[in-house]
Amino acid sequence: MQIVFLGLPGAGKGTQATSITEEFRIPHIATGDMFRAARAAGTPLGEEVKGYLDAGRLVPDELTIRVVEDRLMKEDCKGGFLLDGFPRTVPQATALDDVLSGLGKPVTHVLYLNVSPSELLARITGRRVCPSCGASYHLSFHPPTQAGICDRCGAELIQRSDDTPDAVAVRIEENLKRTQVLVERYRERGVLTQIDGEQPIDTVYSQIRDTLRGNVR
Ligand code: AP5
Ligand code: MG
Repeated sequence: MQIVFLGLPGAGKGTQATSITEEFRIPHIATGDMFRAARAAGTPLGEEVKGYLDAGRLVPDELTIRVVEDRLMKEDCKGGFLLDGFPRTVPQATALDDVLSGLGKPVTHVLYLNVSPSELLARITGRRVCPSCGASYHLSFHPPTQAGICDRCGAELIQRSDDTPDAVAVRIEENLKRTQVLVERYRERGVLTQIDGEQPIDTVYSQIRDTLRGNVR
């Protein structure tokens, strides 16, 4: 399975990706997580991207494409992968087609989590994430069992530095039209499944599971 997750910031991609990768045993490749890890480690990539991340703007295509191409060449991607947050632009989608056709592995499923923009701000400003394993929580909609502590690995939860109302507004604006263009691109190819992302987390996941098991398209 070569899966692409589409959805606006806060649509629930990361939340659902955690369950998908656990059940289907494929790597979760999230460009946002990779950029944040590089910034936290102070690598040259981290230095290059930090200004974009904090402002909520997209990192330039050339750089983003290079990072994903390198990652897709790794051994663990041979049996499939889940891309979360890539592609976000037409040049990124075209580059993905090129690299996957070279590997003889086309995109098999595109999951589009549809959530209205008005819902996203509340989701993102209440989000808390695990800096260690990447799990995502929400103070009201999806709280951890023990306040401030990750259920999966016990690390202390943090708030992402780009989860401020100003950066969130820029992120939604940056992605609104671009996501729609990609939705149409993959719909025309017959690989898109649109899922109502405003349903409870478990309901969304059971629809994703049905799709990936081939029970629905
Ligand atoms: P990235 O990390 O990808 O952020 P994003 O797209 O803004 O998406 P989020 O991670 O905010 O949302 P999500 O859909 O994962 O939601 P989550 O599951 O956490 O990118 C960050 C930055 O990196 C970008 O701004 C850009 O600078 C750069 N970047 C990354 N990729 C790039 C690319 N390809 N090109 C260029 N630049 C790139 O859920 C959100 C909250 O809602 C959580 O609190 C969760 O608990 C809650 N929630 C989830 N599902 C539900 C539900 N069903 N009901 C109620 N609450 C829910
Ligand atoms: Mg995410």
